[in-house]
Amino acid sequence: MRILGIESSCDETSVAVVDCAPDGHKVINLHTNSQIMTHQEYGGVVPEVAGRKHCLNIVPTIKAAIDDLNDIDLIAVTRGPGLAQGLTVGVSATKSLALAWDIPLIGVNHMEGHLLSQLLSDEIRPSDFEFPAISLTVSGGHTDLVLVKDFGQYELIGRTKDDAAGEAFDKIAKMLGLTYPGGPSLSKAAIGGDSAAIDFPRAMRQYKNFDFSFSGLKTSVLYYIKDNPDYNLADVAASAQEAIVDILAFKTINSCNALDVKTLFLNGGVAANEELRQRLTDKCLEHEVTFIPCDKKYTGDNGAMIAMAGIHRRGFPHSEISGSKSV
Ligand code: KG4
Ligand code: ZN
Repeated sequence: MRILGIESSCDETSVAVVDCAPDGHKVINLHTNSQIMTHQEYGGVVPEVAGRKHCLNIVPTIKAAIDDLNDIDLIAVTRGPGLAQGLTVGVSATKSLALAWDIPLIGVNHMEGHLLSQLLSDEIRPSDFEFPAISLTVSGGHTDLVLVKDFGQYELIGRTKDDAAGEAFDKIAKMLGLTYPGGPSLSKAAIGGDSAAIDFPRAMRQYKNFDFSFSGLKTSVLYYIKDNPDYNLADVAASAQEAIVDILAFKTINSCNALDVKTLFLNGGVAANEELRQRLTDKCLEHEVTFIPCDKKYTGDNGAMIAMAGIHRRGFPHSEISGSKSV
């Protein structure tokens, strides 16, 4: 079965063709048109501008991804969560294609796409890990710990109470005068810095739950740079990054131990962070947990993960996109 995946929930217009077979899936084509340069001058994503860009980019991106392939069996599209302006463009394009090609479509949850994205890697086979697994999904809008009992069977066991981890990276980077998106620029600024220089807060560490909070960290960095105008950028960046990585790793491994789970997935935009990957690698080794991080080429928003979610949803009865072409 060949599936087209379409993603347009934030600032990437991304379309992929994924072949699905019993022994694994293969990403045939993936084209992503990023709007990062457009939003950089505003320091964050402007929804109205994003919607207009998706409108311009959707057809060329679909054309580039399908090339001369004409044997698509199913189209999967992000139905949410995300910016309404972008989602409308992706869903409308999908409905038009499904009607024109007379094939079914399925609407999928963007977060389920991230949650399954480590399976896109050619090296990962379902036999490499066992369920239940825990997924740490860390993006610009979410910080979720999910108990994955099986494909399609998810239980949210913890989440951020305020800002997402990626949002914390973005906002702290902005305070430090670094460019958007803040995750990559903050970790670059942290190189050579002392991560123990400033003891920024690890909120909710003493709580026996799996929830997070990052808004206090943001405030703490703001006061630190106000009180110390001659601050050392590398030290502040390294210490702020350490505060985020430390609490994410601490709560995540605690959840694996508390629920006796032996597989950990890591995905979402922040999963590209080298410090986080290394910390979880070390913790998983220490606690005998199989660590399956998403390949860096699929951590950001992309159409391949939406195709993957569509493949796994196909056997399930519901789709929240109405219309005669829905499956
Ligand atoms: O999953 P994603 O591409 O979009 C959303 O669904 O939000 O995640 C984007 C987020 C941004 O906040 C960005 O700063 C963060 O992922 N990010 C990183 C890194 N690369 C991207 N955060 C930390 N370290 C990185 N290397
Ligand atoms: Zn995302």
